[in-house]
Amino acid sequence: MTLTPRFPALLHGGDYNPDQWLDRPDILEKDVELMHKAHVNCVSLAIFAWARLEPEEGVYDFSWLDEVIDRLWKAGIHVILATPSGARPAWLAQKYPEVLRVNDRLQRNRFGGRHNHCPSSPVYLRKVREIDTALARRYAGHPAVIAWHISNEFSGSCYCPLCQERFRTFLKKRYGTLEEMNRRQWTSFWSMAYQSWEQVEPPMPSGQMSNLTLRIDWQRFSTQQCKDFILMEREAVKAVCPELPVTANLMERFWDYDYFSLAEALDFVSWDSYPRWHSGDDVKTASDTAMWHDVMRSLKNQPFLLMESTPSLVNWVPVNKPKKPGMHLLSSLQAVAHGSDSVLYFQWRKGRGGAEQYHGAVVDHNGRDDTRTFRQVTDVGLALEKLESLCGASQKTEVCILYDWENRWALDFLQAARREHMHYTETVAGHYRALWQQGIGVDFRDMREETDLSGYRLVIAPLLYMQRGGIDRKLRDFVAGGGTLVATYFSGLADEDNLAFLSDTPHGLTEVLGVRTEEIDALYDSEENRLVTRDGQSFSLTELCEIISPVSGDVEVLATYGSDWYQGLPCLTRHLYGEGQAFCLAAQAEQAGLDWLYGRLAADLGLHAAWCAPLPAGVVATERGGCAFLQNYTDKPQPVSLPGRFESLLTGETLTGTLTLQPYGIAVLRAAETAI
Ligand code: GLA
Ligand code: ZN
Repeated sequence: MTLTPRFPALLHGGDYNPDQWLDRPDILEKDVELMHKAHVNCVSLAIFAWARLEPEEGVYDFSWLDEVIDRLWKAGIHVILATPSGARPAWLAQKYPEVLRVNDRLQRNRFGGRHNHCPSSPVYLRKVREIDTALARRYAGHPAVIAWHISNEFSGSCYCPLCQERFRTFLKKRYGTLEEMNRRQWTSFWSMAYQSWEQVEPPMPSGQMSNLTLRIDWQRFSTQQCKDFILMEREAVKAVCPELPVTANLMERFWDYDYFSLAEALDFVSWDSYPRWHSGDDVKTASDTAMWHDVMRSLKNQPFLLMESTPSLVNWVPVNKPKKPGMHLLSSLQAVAHGSDSVLYFQWRKGRGGAEQYHGAVVDHNGRDDTRTFRQVTDVGLALEKLESLCGASQKTEVCILYDWENRWALDFLQAARREHMHYTETVAGHYRALWQQGIGVDFRDMREETDLSGYRLVIAPLLYMQRGGIDRKLRDFVAGGGTLVATYFSGLADEDNLAFLSDTPHGLTEVLGVRTEEIDALYDSEENRLVTRDGQSFSLTELCEIISPVSGDVEVLATYGSDWYQGLPCLTRHLYGEGQAFCLAAQAEQAGLDWLYGRLAADLGLHAAWCAPLPAGVVATERGGCAFLQNYTDKPQPVSLPGRFESLLTGETLTGTLTLQPYGIAVLRAAETAI
């Protein structure tokens, strides 16, 4: 599958801001020469250039962009062209203050920064549509232009009267009548009931924060607002050139919008990855980053673009550390291993001023091409050329983890257990890590109607607190049909309106799991319990321990609690159901416990892994397109014994015996005879 049909290749390059250098034609000339040297084949262009493109209302100046694009194209460099709606010119904010966002204290923002627009403002929508149309008319047919980069890192919500009105419309559509909304939002609590639609306001600190369903609805609405905005921009550029694909750059761990829903407005997903390497445990950082690559790939179930990453360091964390030798190639190819068809950077050249003047760039202020960063970037360019055959390739996945934004919001708003600290994403990341380090491919799915679990062999549903989309039925069918399910504590308590089920819990799953939940014990940070396995192992349990009781005589207790008043009661169970089996892990287990569980499961199920032989600690294999990416996330050389003959895609050698991976080293291997 090719994301950018006009240039079906692995892309290398990044954010290019010539609009900051228009008074330095020498530098703009030099840029192209240096790009060539760094094996750059693509730039993302004009992301924040609105003030240069439309210096006065209705007066467009494309002359400089014409020159830049032509110069790039002559050098064979392609362009992902941005729409400039991420930051607006001062004249626009001055003349039409209603384009600016209103915060949750109901104050209208001033001109400044970026990502500061109201997504409902008719003036803003019109102005964006106009400039997008003008850009499309001028450049969509240019052979250099391969995709649209819509705006930049969409985030947040606006609380202006217009957005509030649209929120009410959204609620009317969702609930039909006010009575129905009052019922499903349980507004009889604390006299929260609405007597007319006009009374409904978004949740805000000085207002209604106790209606948890309303808060979830506000996030659903904010997702819809952002999606509508993207669709408006999409229509503007597609009206001129329907075949040019549209993307928007998404972000890691991003909370504000449901990305599964947002991705429906895009032709392909791209995202900005800024892991904090060398800030502690690099293996954990690698696992968390791998998870987000896999989430992004899963949003549309196809390859994605790494739209931004730093060539060296960022400037916005308290301690800004450059990547150690090796890490740039390693982290870049990690993205490719998980489905990226690009390695793109923020930024090509460091600007002289502004808030990002010291953010890492391929070209530093000194303009040199003999820096460590420039060399490392060039190495990535060369590596991508050698991996060209992997462009568009997929990976084999037999495992699916359910990760759902609406459930995430519900858990974050939760007033129970470890109130507002349920650590949903971290818990999902722990389960993911146990599979990632075994080289097992993982997809992520949410609970939408469309979700189809039938192709998987193992489905993991951590903290499935709020259910929707018939997920209980899907999980029952999945297990009945021969699948393996792992469910955890605090699952199946509420429906999609966040109303508690009146049945036994986990709702709709007690028959499959063979257990029902009774109580949940929340632990202080200083407390722990133990998971004691039948084969005599013991793992630490923290944060949450649920008391479960079998509802069926044939439940197998694989582990029990080690202490406290529920000592000896089941903590990990297995139950056969139909052709399949379902596990219930009733407490928050340390990583070693999850590793133990998924080590056993992977072996029992014979799950496909990227590498069939043992690997040293900190070395991980990931499969894409039939190749194994061997990644060393330690600062030591690591010997890997090769179970057969392998071709190294990066060096062209044929390898047997032992391969030594350098500190933060990577090799991409394809079996020459023995299947991997
Ligand atoms: C984000 C933005 C970029 C830049 C980088 C800096 O990803 O999209 O414009 O600010 O962060 O890391
Ligand atoms: Zn608004």
